Amino acid sequence: MPIGQHLFRSTALVTGAGRGIGLGIATALAKAGFQVALTDIDEDSAARSASLLGDQGYPTLAMKLDVTQADAWAHAVGEVTARWGGLDLLVNNAGISPRGTIESTDEALWDRTLAINLKGPWLGIKASLPSLQRRQGTIVNIGSTRATRPMPGLFSYVTSKAGLLGLTRQVAVETLGQGVTCNMVAPGWVDTPGERLIQAEQGRPDFPQGVSNLTTPEDVGGAVVFLASPAGRKVNGIILYLDSGLHVADDAGMVYLPDEQSVRYHQPIANPFTPPSEPRS
Ligand SMILES: NC(=O)c1ccc[n+]([C@@H]2O[C@H](COP(=O)([O-])OP(=O)(O)OC[C@H]3O[C@@H](n4cnc5c(N)ncnc54)[C@H](O)[C@@H]3O)[C@@H](O)[C@H]2O)c1
Repeated sequence: MPIGQHLFRSTALVTGAGRGIGLGIATALAKAGFQVALTDIDEDSAARSASLLGDQGYPTLAMKLDVTQADAWAHAVGEVTARWGGLDLLVNNAGISPRGTIESTDEALWDRTLAINLKGPWLGIKASLPSLQRRQGTIVNIGSTRATRPMPGLFSYVTSKAGLLGLTRQVAVETLGQGVTCNMVAPGWVDTPGERLIQAEQGRPDFPQGVSNLTTPEDVGGAVVFLASPAGRKVNGIILYLDSGLHVADDAGMVYLPDEQSVRYHQPIANPFTPPSEPRS
């Protein structure tokens, strides 16, 4: 029996669903039979994406939701409950990945990254938990391979995604025995509008042609559908890497061009550790 038939008329809320990975997840869920609330801080993009799916006959709802605001979460969960009776799946996807080292990251950037990438998922889980408990629902947090494979220059991002992994495992433990599950999906590099903007800011013209090992928004959507399926509900408290296995061997180079030179898009650090030359007094 196709996975979607089990999930028909289940209800999902996806954050950051206006574009990129969030839209890929919302699309996969709609095709699998979910009624999907597409939420985003950018109300117009949420509305555009919801009508894209609505026009194909899928039941959707578009809402403005800034994940850093507890009252906005209460409102969003209330709207979904009023429309569809409750929530079966929460997908915490909204996130930012600003560049910055220990030194160049200022407090405002740290606070913003942690608020969106880590506090947001907590507020969402807190607001959704009564409904998820009632309906034996599940939570999927969108992390990153960088949660366990740090990269120089991604200071606040790596810290937030490592925190999100801790949160995922903590939620799985606290909800054990309640019929609720919580997992993290960790994509490798994904070509999305947000990532293209960052590449442009970094002076890189575009995603290089012919890059191998890219993950797609559809890949992430497929993983979320699996975790919400009956078979996926045996999975709890894990990090599911979607990077073709690069995290196993990664040494700060993530994506490889397919030519003989095997150019690393992110350069490895030349001298990772220099011991002090004299003992400190
Ligand atoms: N693109 C990648 O290479 C990649 C790799 C691994 C993990 N991820 C993760 O996937 C998720 C989505 O990334 P993407 O590449 O699709 O990004 P994106 O920038 O293309 O899309 C992110 C969406 O989140 C929304 N958003 C931003 N702040 C928000 C807030 N406070 N409240 C609600 N919505 C907000 C944006 O408006 C946007 O629509 C992020 O959590 C990111 O860390 C991305």
